Amino acid sequence: MTAWELEALFGTLSRLPDVEADNLRAYDATDRLLLETAEGYLRPDSQVVVIGDRYGALTLGTLACTGVGHVRVNQDLFTGRAALQRNADAAGMDGRYTPHELGRELLQGADLILLQLPKSLAELEEIADAVARFAGPDAVLLAGGRVKHMSVGMNAVLEKYFSAVQPQLARQKSRILVAKNPRTVSGEPPFPVVEANPELGITLCAHGAVFSGARLDIGTRYLLGFLDRMPAARQAVDLGCGTGILATMYARHQAGARVIATDQSAAAVASAMATAAANGLGERISVIHDDAMSSFEAGSADLILLNPPFHLGASVHAGAGLKLFEAAARVLAPGGELWTVYNSHLQYRPALERYVGPTVEEGRNPKFTVTRSRKA
Ligand SMILES: C[S@@+](CC[C@H](N)C(=O)[O-])C[C@H]1O[C@@H](n2cnc3c(N)ncnc32)[C@H](O)[C@@H]1O
Repeated sequence: MTAWELEALFGTLSRLPDVEADNLRAYDATDRLLLETAEGYLRPDSQVVVIGDRYGALTLGTLACTGVGHVRVNQDLFTGRAALQRNADAAGMDGRYTPHELGRELLQGADLILLQLPKSLAELEEIADAVARFAGPDAVLLAGGRVKHMSVGMNAVLEKYFSAVQPQLARQKSRILVAKNPRTVSGEPPFPVVEANPELGITLCAHGAVFSGARLDIGTRYLLGFLDRMPAARQAVDLGCGTGILATMYARHQAGARVIATDQSAAAVASAMATAAANGLGERISVIHDDAMSSFEAGSADLILLNPPFHLGASVHAGAGLKLFEAAARVLAPGGELWTVYNSHLQYRPALERYVGPTVEEGRNPKFTVTRSRKA
C-alpha cells in the first residue's frame, strides 16, 4: 500500500461513537510514524500486537499496509473498541483482528508490538510489564507518541523492562521509542495496586490506567462528604466509576441499595470489580464496561453519582462532561437525582439544569461545587 492509500484509509476512519468535533481526529501523525517504522521490523511470519489504538488507524493500517494477515489488539476504552469494529466493518477487515484484555492471551509469542503511548506512567508500566512477561524473548516494542506529551520518565519506565531503549528522531512532532531485549520479570505483576485507605476505611484497587490511581481524588472526597444527604436509592449508579470509590462508599452507607459502577475504561472496570470484592461488596456492586450508560434502560436508576471527566484524550473538552449529563438525564427515573462534583470554574449548573432538570447547589468549597439535579 502506498502512502497515498494509507492517507485514503485514514480519511475514512470515524471516531464514532466517541465525541466528534472539528478539532478531534480519528488518527494522528504517531499512527503514521508507527506504521512506517514497523515495516523495518516485520518478518514474514511476524505476530503483531497493537496496544492503545484509538479508533483503528494502527490495526487497520497494519492489516492494509504490511501483508500481516491477523492482529491481536488491546484497547482500554469502550468507545475505541466500538470505533475499531465500525471502521473494520466499513473497510471489509472484520475478522482480521481479535480483541483481548492486557495479558498472556494478547501477547504470547508476539514479536512486534505497536503502542500508542498512554498518558500516565503507571499505565505504561502495566503495559511494559505485560510485554516483558508474556511476549517472545526477541519481542520489539515500538512506543510512539506526540512529542509534547512525552517525558523522559517514559524512557525510564521502559528501561526497567527492556535492556535497550532507543528514542528515534522526531517527525511531524511525533517520536518513537524502540524498546528491545525484554528483561526477565518474575513475581507478582505490579498492578493492580491494592491499598488500604484509612480515611475511608476501605481498600482501593487500581490498575495503571485508572483515574487517580489508588489515591482519593480531592473532588471525590468533597462529594463523599454529602453521603448523608443523598437519598436511599433502590438502584444507584456510579457513573465514570474509576476505582469504584463512590460505588463502594455508597453501598456501605445504604445497605439496601443495588449499585452499578460503570466506566468507559476497561482498567477502571477491572479496578472497580477488584475494589468491590476487596471490601466484601462483590455481590452488591455490579460493574459494566460501557460508554455513557448506552446499554442502560431509560428511567432505570433513581440515583446517579458523578465526578465527571473534563478531558477527551489529551485535549480539554467540556463535551466529555456534557455527554454524561445527557446520559444521566436518560437513565434517571422521574424524580431521580444526579449528584455531581466539579471544579467551580467549570460552571456546569446551567448545563445540568438544561439536560437533567432543577439543580441546586448543595455545597461549595474554595475549589469544588456539589450539585443535586432532579429529573423532572
Ligand atoms: C474524574 S474520573 C472519576 C473517577 C471516580 N468516579 C472517582 O471519583 O475517583 C472520571 C471517570 O469517568 C470515566 N469516563 C469518561 N467518559 C466516560 C464515558 N463516556 N462513559 C463512561 N465513563 C466515562 C473516566 O474513564 C474516568 O474513570
